[in-house]
This record gives sequence, structure tokens and C-alpha cells, in this order.
Amino acid sequence: MPRMEVLATPAAMRRWRHRVSGSVGFVPTMGYLHEGHMQLVRRSTGENLHTVVSIFVNPTQFAPGEDFERYPRDEVRDLELLRLAGVGAVYLPSAAEMYPPGYQTYVDVEKVTVPLEGASRPGHFRGVTTVVLKLLNAVQPQKAYFGRKDAQQLRVVKRMVLDLDLDCEIVPCDIVREPDGLAMSSRNVYLTLEQRAAAPVIRRALLEARGLYESGERDADRLRATALAVLAREPLGTVEYISLADDVTLEELSGAVRGPALLSTVVRFGATRLLDNVELG
Ligand code: PAJ
Repeated sequence: MPRMEVLATPAAMRRWRHRVSGSVGFVPTMGYLHEGHMQLVRRSTGENLHTVVSIFVNPTQFAPGEDFERYPRDEVRDLELLRLAGVGAVYLPSAAEMYPPGYQTYVDVEKVTVPLEGASRPGHFRGVTTVVLKLLNAVQPQKAYFGRKDAQQLRVVKRMVLDLDLDCEIVPCDIVREPDGLAMSSRNVYLTLEQRAAAPVIRRALLEARGLYESGERDADRLRATALAVLAREPLGTVEYISLADDVTLEELSGAVRGPALLSTVVRFGATRLLDNVELG
């Protein structure tokens, strides 16, 4: 297997990019890799001659008081997993390289960033779009792979790529789950054993609502209420939001659901926010 390069600066990343020819696929991550990330990596290595994975815990997408400082990290293990997966290059910049003194440029996608995660985490998507654009500029991939787990992030990034005429295809990938249905997340390690045992209630709630939708129910309030009723029975979880929204614009739906819709939720277990969703229609 050819050597995997580890590149620490935008300049080094660009030099590698200019050296290789053939298709490049890109998987942006914040590290502490799990099967959800590795699925994106395998999709990319299957579809492209070269795969680049970035590991960067991006400070600008965390609000003050969030978990930036304690976000889990395991660089040695991550690099080994990526090497075994046949990744060509890992882009591992430092915060000082990404945001040097004097840094003052941000990308602001408007409407689709306003509800849901945007409302709960002010400034979050401004940090995400800024770093994703910087990463795409350094890597210049033909395709970039994003998980459906972060459904709003996927829609926001697609909007940015369209609006800024970026020459990159955004490839959505399915949510990878633990055997009991909990969506894999680097943040699952924050859960206590009790919280971890209770967390699959999120998946059950979303499936209950999807079942109702599939049996013909189209009333947005009743679909939301069905999921909420399941979540309400779990005392360890606090529902931050449950949303049934237009699949593309993420505008909240009322009355009858007509087109494709996204049912998404955040449930807090202690200080840990767990995010999940299902697509309807
Ligand atoms: P991170 O949370 O590390 O996730 C990196 C990618 O993996 C995202 O596209 C996310 O949707 C995907 N992913 C995470 N868990 C998944 C799961 N269980 N199933 C499928 N895909 C999953 O998302 C970020 O990092 C950052 O915001 C980033 C895009 C890297 C910008 O900083």
C-alpha cells in the first residue's frame, strides 16, 4: 500500500493536491473516528483514485461554553484507521494555521441556517461553512462526502456549494447506527451507562412517527406529537426540539405534509446533545 501523507498546513495540502492526478474524494471530520466516519471514507476510496480525510476540531463552530476543549481526540488511532483504509492523505492543520492572527473572513449562508441547530447553536453554521470552504479550497476534491446524520449541515453545505459556484459534488451518506439504533457519534462517549442504555429511545420515537406516516398520516402536528410522546416517556432525556420541516428549505411544516420532509430531533441526556433524524417521503 502506498504511504499515507500527513499534511499540516494549507500550503502542504495544496502541494500534495498539485502532485496527484486522477479523481480526489474528500471526507471532512473532527476526528475520534467511528464507523459513521469510516463509511464515508470507504465510499470515497471506492469512488475515487485518491481520498483525503481532514481531522480538524474547528473552534469557530463551537460557541463559548460548548465542548470544544473537551471534544474527544485520538489522533494516533485515527491515523492508523485511515492508513488501513487506504487513504492517500490526511489533512491535519492546527487552529493557528487555519485562523492566524488577523483572520477576519467568514461565510454566512442565510435562511437554511436559521432554524433547528442554527437556533440552538448561534454562530455554529457560520463556523461550519467557513471551515468547509477553506478545506474544499485546500483539497480541491471532485467529490466531498457528508453524513445524513447532520441533516441540516448537509443542506447548508449543499446550498453554499451551489451559491458560491464551487466545482465539487456533495455526496450524502446514510446514518450508521449502533445495533440498538443509536446513531453513532463521537459525543456518545460522554454518556453515562444509564444514559447510553436510554438513548435508543430517539430512534424508536422517529420510527414510530415514520410508521404512522407510512400508514397514511399526513398531519404535521400529529406526526411530531407521536414522536414526542415516545420521547416523553424517557425521564433521562430532555427534548430540545422535534421538527418536521421541508426537506430542502427546512421550513417548519404545518397542516398536511405534501412533499419530502425531514423529521429531526435533539434530545439532551445530561449535558450531551444527541441529534437524529429520518426522511419522510
Ligand atoms: P464530524 O462530527 O466529525 O462528522 C464528520 C462527518 O461524518 C459528517 O459529514 C457527519 O455527518 C458524518 N457522520 C458522523 N456520524 C455519522 C453517522 N453515525 N453516520 C453517518 N455519518 C456520520 O460534521 C463535522 O464533523 C464537522 O462539522 C465538519 C463537517 C468536519 C466541519 O468541521
